[in-house]
Amino acid sequence: EHMGGHLSTRLKGLDDALCGGIPFGVLTELVGPAGIGKTQFCLKLALLASLPPSCGGVDGRVIYIDVESKFSSTRMIEIGAKSFPEVFRTKGMAQEMAGRILVLRPTSLSEFSESLQQIKISLLQNQVKLLIIDSMAALVSGENVQGATRQHLLGWHISFIKSLAEFSRIPIVVTNQVRSQNHDEVCQYYFQAHRRERIVENHSGYDSHLVAALGIHWAHAVTIRLVLDAKSGKRFIKLAKSPVSPPLAFPFNITSSGISL
Ligand code: GTP
Repeated sequence: EHMGGHLSTRLKGLDDALCGGIPFGVLTELVGPAGIGKTQFCLKLALLASLPPSCGGVDGRVIYIDVESKFSSTRMIEIGAKSFPEVFRTKGMAQEMAGRILVLRPTSLSEFSESLQQIKISLLQNQVKLLIIDSMAALVSGENVQGATRQHLLGWHISFIKSLAEFSRIPIVVTNQVRSQNHDEVCQYYFQAHRRERIVENHSGYDSHLVAALGIHWAHAVTIRLVLDAKSGKRFIKLAKSPVSPPLAFPFNITSSGISL
């Protein structure tokens, strides 16, 4: 029913720009500096994927790849209870929602792909409606090979993740951290990914670890890229790559009820 559908973010302007939300069947990347709100965004998406359709959810299960142990079911339930108080007043609802999230903590990309290959077929049968990887760069840093072998291995895993999205027709949302606090620099880096080596040489503010870790193959594998950043004390979500929208920016806040525009 969600073939070619969308997972609503409940962020009105963003949903409109994305023709309904995070698309099923492709990769969406959330990128931004530490502490900007990438994990908070992921918690909200996990909640929305689990909620009944009457609250705008898709009544599914979620696989949450929690590489840096940042997932918090307590915080996810708080976001739910503040955003949908009437739903969460129902007895057992909080446990029911938390039970829908399968949290995995693989220590490397290979371990991640192996475990997902094992459950690939059951992804569909188990009503999984969202896969989150928080974060991709941290997952890649667990790989213990270098040079051409590393690039080859990485390319294989990126293709695997992309094919997993297509095969299972679920949205795959992946976070990545960049060190730069400067909005323009972060966006420029991502717009010009094809010139990445030169940019890294010329601008020490870019996260060369991320570039070295993920490379050009990654930049092309991603269909939607949302850049989160702060400027003059305000947070912004910028739709930096999308097949359906020009670049647009939306100011957002993080409150007890989670991310909101
Ligand atoms: P890294 O993983 O370090 O790259 O950061 P991130 O982008 O994932 O940041 P995260 O989503 O962890 O967001 C951190 C920010 O969210 C904090 O600076 C707080 O402003 C806000 N935040 C986190 N937890 C809460 C909470 O329980 N209540 C409220 N109101 N805000 C929170």
